[in-house]
Amino acid sequence: MLSSLLGRTPHSSRLPTLREGITLLAGRPQRWLPHLLGFLFVLWYFGPIIRGGPPDDYVYVLPPPIHHPHLPPLYKPPTASANDWKVRAHQVREAFIHAYKGYRDHAFPADELAPMSGKIHNNFNGWGVTIYDALDTMWIMGLSEYFEEAVQLISKADYTTKPKQYVPFFETIIRHLGGLLSAYALSNEPILLEQADKMGAILLPAFNTESGFPAYALSTRTNATRGGWTGNTLWAEALSNQLEYKYLAHVTGKPEYFEKAERCMQLMYEANITDGIFPTHWDTKTGAPSNHRFSVGAFADSAHEYLLKQWLITSQSETKIKDLYLNVSKSIMENLLYVTPNREMLFVTDADMLKPPPRKSQTEGSESTSKSTPATNPKSPQASTPSTIPSGTFEHLSCFLPGLFALAASTLSPLDLPRPERELHEWAAEGLAYTCWLTYADTKTGLGPDVLSMKMFAKAEDGLWLPRVESWKEKGRSGRPPGLREPGAVRGKNERDYTVYKRTYLLRPEAIESFYIMWRTTGNPVWRERGWWVVLSNSQPLGKSHPILTYIMIVFVFASSRTVFQAIEKYAKTEIGYASIMDVDKSSEKAPVKDEMPSYFLAETLKYLYLLFTDEELIPLDKWVFNTEAHPLPIFEWTETEKKLFNIS
Ligand SMILES: *[C@@H]1O[C@H](CO)[C@@H](O)[C@H](O)[C@H]1NC(C)=O
Ligand SMILES: *[C@@H]1O[C@H](CO)[C@@H](O)[C@H](O)[C@H]1NC(C)=O
Repeated sequence: MLSSLLGRTPHSSRLPTLREGITLLAGRPQRWLPHLLGFLFVLWYFGPIIRGGPPDDYVYVLPPPIHHPHLPPLYKPPTASANDWKVRAHQVREAFIHAYKGYRDHAFPADELAPMSGKIHNNFNGWGVTIYDALDTMWIMGLSEYFEEAVQLISKADYTTKPKQYVPFFETIIRHLGGLLSAYALSNEPILLEQADKMGAILLPAFNTESGFPAYALSTRTNATRGGWTGNTLWAEALSNQLEYKYLAHVTGKPEYFEKAERCMQLMYEANITDGIFPTHWDTKTGAPSNHRFSVGAFADSAHEYLLKQWLITSQSETKIKDLYLNVSKSIMENLLYVTPNREMLFVTDADMLKPPPRKSQTEGSESTSKSTPATNPKSPQASTPSTIPSGTFEHLSCFLPGLFALAASTLSPLDLPRPERELHEWAAEGLAYTCWLTYADTKTGLGPDVLSMKMFAKAEDGLWLPRVESWKEKGRSGRPPGLREPGAVRGKNERDYTVYKRTYLLRPEAIESFYIMWRTTGNPVWRERGWWVVLSNSQPLGKSHPILTYIMIVFVFASSRTVFQAIEKYAKTEIGYASIMDVDKSSEKAPVKDEMPSYFLAETLKYLYLLFTDEELIPLDKWVFNTEAHPLPIFEWTETEKKLFNIS
């Protein structure tokens, strides 16, 4: 009977009826059970995909990013005959080991080491921020034993806090999450991605504000959020999580990471800012601009970076963001770049807008056109009076800007950045980076002060850089462009064209970061030299001149100069680490130091110095994008699935 049901006899080649089928299956579970199990498996496996979400237990496997250096670079210590750069890179690596060992032996699992007393600072969440910040530097320097040990320690971490403790969102994203993601991308160590996913998830409730901007801080126990002392969202806070969360969304497949970060971008598009002046304060409730200050300094700095870099990290696919960058950078050029009266030092300051930023809703409304027309005009910059009042302040933090301009000039297409704008980008980058270097070269220690107060022209707008460039062009471009004439260091404080407003050197990276990007994008070795020597003229004395001349130059340079790195070694080094410097102009003995070693010294300052001095480009700029804490993340492309899932147009 069975064989006839299954159609094996020539007379009944029909399929069984439903009833016959049920009878058959009911009697023989060993026949239908595997099919049922198979069917259930298909449902379980494809269910989430059919429903549209990622599987709950997403498996952390990715195709390797483009040119993925999964192996740590093989480190060979320089031999006696190795050239200078190898020796210098090696010294930076030794400095990193000294700093990290000090932290590890005296401060772990606290956040940071107090490098003089050997005590600790728990100034973030007490999760050991230094280890997160130092992780990818270890990989890049080929310190695999420290790296493996750190991964072990991190794999055991749980990110709960004391009941009343609040976690600062911005710092935790750029340091901890950025560090984990970068180290994962470099090493492909799955536990690092698991921890990053965990951290990304617990920080996500910070976005539960009325506007969708992240709150200043949150409690990872209760999800309660708290505003900062300004009562507003700072522009840098709103726009410094997208690189991390978008990459995390890409490697985990979780749409919520993308959506929350993208919401902040949405608010930028909706703010109707047409003249590129994005203010430093934003209303956490409404998501609208809430002050009139335009800056690339402390409250805004990394937001500028994340405009260009978001576009770069997603393989130049999100064009709306690039347009924002172009808009903002044009506005920086028009409003914030000035030169000083005597040395013609190009600098970037911040400024107050004379009127509220123009909004679509206003310009389309009933206001008289003369009041609502933006004062800046792309075609005739010299005709524009600035719509802003400059403060004259120049922060070390702003020294990231030349690097950003250089990166933009080397990555934006001629369509987006036609020749005149590209030139402006390149000139501004060069002039600003030179000024940053000059602020080091002018001091007694050879280290740059934290904040300067720049000398302005009697009528401030006479110092605006852009009109000067335009008039230099009109007069036939003789000599170098304004702001690029390299006046050289001075010894007298009266000759400086600025006064020092904050005399500390907090082991900050920004100037060195820009030297590194200048060196990689222009290929001009003078930037490497400037990362080393603080007294070098515009010409390259160690270049191609006669051997005897070169020798004399070397002797001269040795006799009359200090190096940035040597100055750090001389003034900042302690028995167990490196300490911030109180006064960059005091060198009589050892400059007085401050009992702190910020984690960014290991994440950024030493990493950029090392990358500046290694001949090989370990982190190629066309494959990687550095987050604002110098954690490199790989450039990737959104897949078709992701575009659908995340609603990316
Ligand atoms: C906090 O938010 C997450 C979702 O982001 C949720 O899983 C968790 O249960 C929340 N915790 C509390 C205490 O509400
Ligand atoms: C921007 O313009 C749109 C439409 O004109 C308006 O709905 C929105 O409120 C404006 N946003 C701000 C922040 O003014």
